[in-house]
Amino acid sequence: GTATGTTAGTTATPGAGAEPELFTWEFAGDPYPAYAWLREHAPVRWTTLPSGVGAWLVTRYGDARETLADARLSKNPVHHTEEGKARSRTGIPGERSADLMTHLLNIDPPDHTRLRRLVSKAFTPRRVAQFAPRVQELTDRLVDGFAGRGEADLIHEFAFPLPIYAICDLLGVPAEDQDDFRDWAGMMIRHGGGPRGGVARSVKRMRAYLGELIHRKRGDLGDDLISGLIRASDDGEHLTENEAAAMAFILLFAGFETTVNLIGNGVHTLLRHPEQRAALQDSLARGQSALLETAVEELLRYDGPVELATWRYATVPVTIGGQAVAAGDPVLVVLAAANRDPERFAAPDTVDLARRDNPHLGYGHGIHYCLGAPLARLEARTALASLLTRLPDLQPAVAEEELRWRGGLIMRGLRSLPVTFTPEH
Ligand code: HEM
Repeated sequence: GTATGTTAGTTATPGAGAEPELFTWEFAGDPYPAYAWLREHAPVRWTTLPSGVGAWLVTRYGDARETLADARLSKNPVHHTEEGKARSRTGIPGERSADLMTHLLNIDPPDHTRLRRLVSKAFTPRRVAQFAPRVQELTDRLVDGFAGRGEADLIHEFAFPLPIYAICDLLGVPAEDQDDFRDWAGMMIRHGGGPRGGVARSVKRMRAYLGELIHRKRGDLGDDLISGLIRASDDGEHLTENEAAAMAFILLFAGFETTVNLIGNGVHTLLRHPEQRAALQDSLARGQSALLETAVEELLRYDGPVELATWRYATVPVTIGGQAVAAGDPVLVVLAAANRDPERFAAPDTVDLARRDNPHLGYGHGIHYCLGAPLARLEARTALASLLTRLPDLQPAVAEEELRWRGGLIMRGLRSLPVTFTPEH
C-alpha cells in the first residue's frame, strides 16, 4: 500500500497502512492508531509479547465483551500450555515468591464465587460512601502540600499517594505503618513487570506484614475491611489465612496503580482539551455534580488505566470473532481498543465529558467486573473536583512530547505529570 502521514510528527490515518509494530516506544506514547488498525484488519490477532510469550489480542467491543464473560476462558494460569512461563506473568511482580496467587483475578468458580461473596460483604457500596469525607480530607492534605508553590508533579505528589493512603485506611492499616506501604508500592510501580530482586523483597515484606496484621485483628476486631473479612469468614464461609492475605494484597494492588493512572491520565486528557475542561470547571463552580460523574466515565473510556484486561486461558477450543483459538492459548482483551470501537461509540476518538451512551469496559465485565469501582469513582471525582476548583489555571509544565509513559503491558499511565499554576494563598 501507499504510505500515509509521511510528514514527520503526524500520525497515519487510523486504520490505514501496513500492520503497525506493537509495544515500541512510540506505541507506548499513543497505542490508539495501532489498535484502530487491529480492530479493522485483524480483530483477533496472535501476537508475541515483549516477554516472548504469545497471546491472542481481542480488540473489537462486541468480541471483548463476550470474551470477558466467557466461562470457557479461565483465569487460572495452570490452563496455559506454557504454564511454567505464565505463572510469573500474572501482572503482579514477585507475587509468586510471596505465595499470594490465590486472589480473585487468578481463580475461577466455585472458589472465585466464594471469595468474591465474602469480600463483597465487607467491601460494600455503603462502606465506600461513608468513606467520602476521609477521601476529601486526604485529597485536601495532599493539595495543601503543593498549592502554595505554583508547580508540582501531579503523579508523585498527588495521584500516587492518594489511593495508597485511601486503601490502607479502608483496610485498617494503622497510620504509622502506611508510609511503609507507600515505599513498597513505589517499588512495585517503578519496577513493575518482572519479579526483580527489590520488587520480590517488597512483596515479601508486604506479605509478612499482612499476615501479622490479620493475626492481630483476629484478637481485636474493628470496623475496617480486614476485620470485616475476618467476621464474614467466621460467619460460616471459610477463608484461610493465606486467602485473607491474598485478598488484602489484591485490594491494594488492583486498587492502587489503576487509581494513580485514572487520576493521571484523566488530568492529562483534561489539560489537552481546554473547552471540555472549562465546561467541567464551570459546572463545578455552580456546585453541580452531573457533569463530573459522566466526565469520570468518559475519561475512563477515552484513556483508561487498564489497557489490557488481565490474562485469560482457553480451557477448550473456542471461536472468538470467527477466529479459532486452541485450548491452552492465552487471550488478552484490549479494553483500550474496545472502548474506542466506532461500532459501539459515536465519535470514539472525541472526548465528550457529557457522553451519556457510554457502556465502556474500563472496569471489565462479567464475574471479574471491578470490585473497587465505587471506590475508584469516589477517589477520581474527589481528586479532579478538588484540583480543578483549587488550582483553576492548572497548565502542563512540559511539552506533550516530553511526557513519558510507563509502557507496561496491562496498565497505561504516565511516569510524571509536571504542572504549573497560580500559587494559592
Ligand atoms: C478487577 C479496573 C480500581 C479492586 C478489575 C478489572 C478491571 C479493573 C478492568 C477486571 C480485570 C479482568 O477481568 O481481567 C479498575 C480501574 C480502576 C480500578 C480502571 C480505577 C480507576 C480498583 C480499586 C479496587 C479494585 C480502587 C479496590 C480497592 C479490584 C478487584 C478486582 C478488580 C479486587 C478483581 C475482581 C474479581 O476478579 O472478581 N478492575 N479497577 N479496583 N478490581 Fe479494579
